[in-house]
Amino acid sequence: MSIKVGVIGVGGMLQYHAAGFRQAGAEIVAVADAAPGAAAKAAAKWDIATPYETVDAMLAAPEIDAVSVIVPNKFHKSLTIQCLEAGKHVFCEKPPALNAAEVQEIIAAAKKADKQVLFNFNNRARPESQAMMTYINQGVAGTINSAQAKWIRRTGIPGFGGWFTTKELAGGGSLIDLLHMVDLAMYFMGYPEPAHVIGQTFSDFIQDKQFKGPWGIPDRVGGTTDVENSAHGFVSFKTGQVLSLQVSWAEMVKREEVSVVFQGTKAGGRVERLFGIDGLDNTAIDTCELYVQENGHSVNRSITTPACEDMGRIGSAANFIEFLDGKAAPLNTPEQALRLMQVIDAVYASAKTGKPVSI
Ligand SMILES: NC(=O)c1ccc[n+]([C@@H]2O[C@H](COP(=O)([O-])OP(=O)(O)OC[C@H]3O[C@@H](n4cnc5c(N)ncnc54)[C@H](O)[C@@H]3O)[C@@H](O)[C@H]2O)c1
Repeated sequence: MSIKVGVIGVGGMLQYHAAGFRQAGAEIVAVADAAPGAAAKAAAKWDIATPYETVDAMLAAPEIDAVSVIVPNKFHKSLTIQCLEAGKHVFCEKPPALNAAEVQEIIAAAKKADKQVLFNFNNRARPESQAMMTYINQGVAGTINSAQAKWIRRTGIPGFGGWFTTKELAGGGSLIDLLHMVDLAMYFMGYPEPAHVIGQTFSDFIQDKQFKGPWGIPDRVGGTTDVENSAHGFVSFKTGQVLSLQVSWAEMVKREEVSVVFQGTKAGGRVERLFGIDGLDNTAIDTCELYVQENGHSVNRSITTPACEDMGRIGSAANFIEFLDGKAAPLNTPEQALRLMQVIDAVYASAKTGKPVSI
């Protein structure tokens, strides 16, 4: 019997969750949204049987096996735990929660309910990431000693004064929003346990309309803009591995770049997407390369992978269903989400105190 899914939140990611769940053979039976009328509209648009005006009403439906949570960050923890307590598996959008302490609460609730939680680290599902991971798992890179994670934008602030720029609702700015490459680097490195972090954040442009992104997220007059537009950090892990990170919505860089570069004991590598225009990938250049020394020569191996415009979003949602069906390993675990949020918390703590932070 196919897995039956309910969705909370009708934002832009719903189309990808729906496509991925359906591709993997699940049925989307319900949708709920707190905004009056929003669920009914989405149900009609995306061919979902039952819209609900409240999450409570949707979770009372016994036929729902799993729920996807696509709402602003502040509500990830409470809704994920509510779904787990109602006996549903959960696929929650990134970031996993506002901070590591909240992820720990999610882990405890999942254990208690004996239900699964996956987060949408969709960049792991990109063909380049999966191709690179195959080589890493085969030992081609050796031990990855060091990596550099970047998601940098020149002009990509997602609306001024809305939830994205309000710390209480988002947990932070560019770093927590564009956490994907930090996650991907740690994935390639074997998700080591973080030891020490030094970081800094900058908010010079967070109120400057020259740096607005192209997504049409409306500005809210009188809204809050108390998050960073860029973050830089350095992480050392208990294994001796190290990671540097640069994540920005707005920074004086040439163009949007989304990349993980690493240096291993046997090979280096690069997974990179250069965007044509901030937030739009119509002229994107994708790279997936390995760098080795062979027979006294420096050899660059270029790995060709299929184009994937959705940046792994459909594949990531499909993996959730395939995992529940016992057909695939999960693309991520809550324990990894915890380590990622520990790093993010530590960058913010270091930026606040001006001191290195031990985890
Ligand atoms: N993985 C990705 O590539 C990606 C891309 C964009 C957004 N996201 C994530 O998706 C999530 C949603 O972002 P968005 O831009 O769609 O947000 P949004 O502000 O458009 O909100 C989505 C919907 O959630 C509803 N909602 C808000 N609070 C609710 C609650 N407590 N209960 C029920 N419904 C509620 C809103 O009415 C809205 O319709 C965020 O966590 C964001 O980080 C991920």
